[in-house]
Amino acid sequence: MEDKDQAIPLAPPTRDEESATQSPRRHRHRPTRRCALWCCGICGTTLVVLGVTILILALTVFKIKDPEMTMNNLYINRLFVPGLGTLDNPTISVNATLTADISIKNPNVASFRFRNSSTEFFYGDETVGVAYAPDGNVRAYRTARMNVTVDVLADRVVLDTNATGSAVFDGAVNMSSYTDIAGRVNVLGVYKLNMDIHLNCSFTLEVYQRAISNKVCFAYVQ
Ligand SMILES: *[C@@H]1O[C@H](CO)[C@@H](O)[C@H](O)[C@H]1NC(C)=O
Ligand SMILES: *[C@@H]1O[C@H](CO)[C@@H](O)[C@H](O)[C@H]1NC(C)=O
Ligand SMILES: *[C@@H]1O[C@H](CO)[C@@H](O)[C@H](O)[C@H]1NC(C)=O
Ligand SMILES: *[C@@H]1O[C@H](CO)[C@@H](O)[C@H](O)[C@H]1NC(C)=O
Ligand SMILES: *[C@@H]1O[C@H](CO)[C@@H](O)[C@H](O)[C@H]1NC(C)=O
Ligand SMILES: *[C@@H]1O[C@H](CO)[C@@H](O)[C@H](O)[C@H]1NC(C)=O
Repeated sequence: MEDKDQAIPLAPPTRDEESATQSPRRHRHRPTRRCALWCCGICGTTLVVLGVTILILALTVFKIKDPEMTMNNLYINRLFVPGLGTLDNPTISVNATLTADISIKNPNVASFRFRNSSTEFFYGDETVGVAYAPDGNVRAYRTARMNVTVDVLADRVVLDTNATGSAVFDGAVNMSSYTDIAGRVNVLGVYKLNMDIHLNCSFTLEVYQRAISNKVCFAYVQ
């Protein structure tokens, strides 16, 4: 080894020399390198755990769920039926004021802000009343409740006629309603989702009993 070194002193360091000079260094640096590897491992594991945690949170707690809109109740505030129809003209008019008790449940960790909305009431295909509701905000995991009052004026409510063609007004008037509320869920300002909640209800106004029956609602989000 030494003979070789002395024979070619100006030559670039040989592999032997390299290993001779590096060997102690490698030996000296081995604990540091092991530490670096170990640190990298810890860092990598932490990143992976953090990533998985964020993913799980995004898919569970922070996942945006659809707010639920329901019509809890429908009241008759005022009801006026002038005349009960005749065989010649088997129609009546219904002049009433109804109040719909509507709630919006927000199942999100973030609040749901909604715009002003309208609720339309129909008799058949005809709009017989429109009510407006103000905008608002439903805090996380809360339910907002509002009363929507509408004046309904159905001029030509057709009476049921039975098999013999006689007008039999049993006092049942089938109506429906449609509420459309646009809003937005904003998760910590990081991501937002606009949504449109629709609520379609159908019910029977029992004129004689002054009551609402057969109320069936159906909500959907777009
Ligand atoms: C409906 O009822 C209200 C209050 O009773 C009355 O002021 C209004 O004139 C009625 N409308 C019709 C078209 O009969
Ligand atoms: C909400 O309010 C604005 C301003 O008052 C009005 O122009 C708009 O038609 C309302 N929207 C609904 C759905 O009632
Ligand atoms: C809605 O109206 C009903 C009946 O009038 C009342 O009992 C209820 O407290 C009202 N709710 C709200 C939020 O105003
Ligand atoms: C139809 O209604 C008239 C008047 O109420 C009643 O006299 C008749 O029996 C009814 N016919 C049938 C088939 O229900
Ligand atoms: C009114 O609705 C009730 C319940 O949905 C139904 O049984 C009835 O046939 C309807 N009447 C008319 C005239 O559509
Ligand atoms: C709900 O009612 C509205 C207004 O009548 C109608 O345009 C819409 O198609 C209805 N939605 C469903 C799912 O029946």
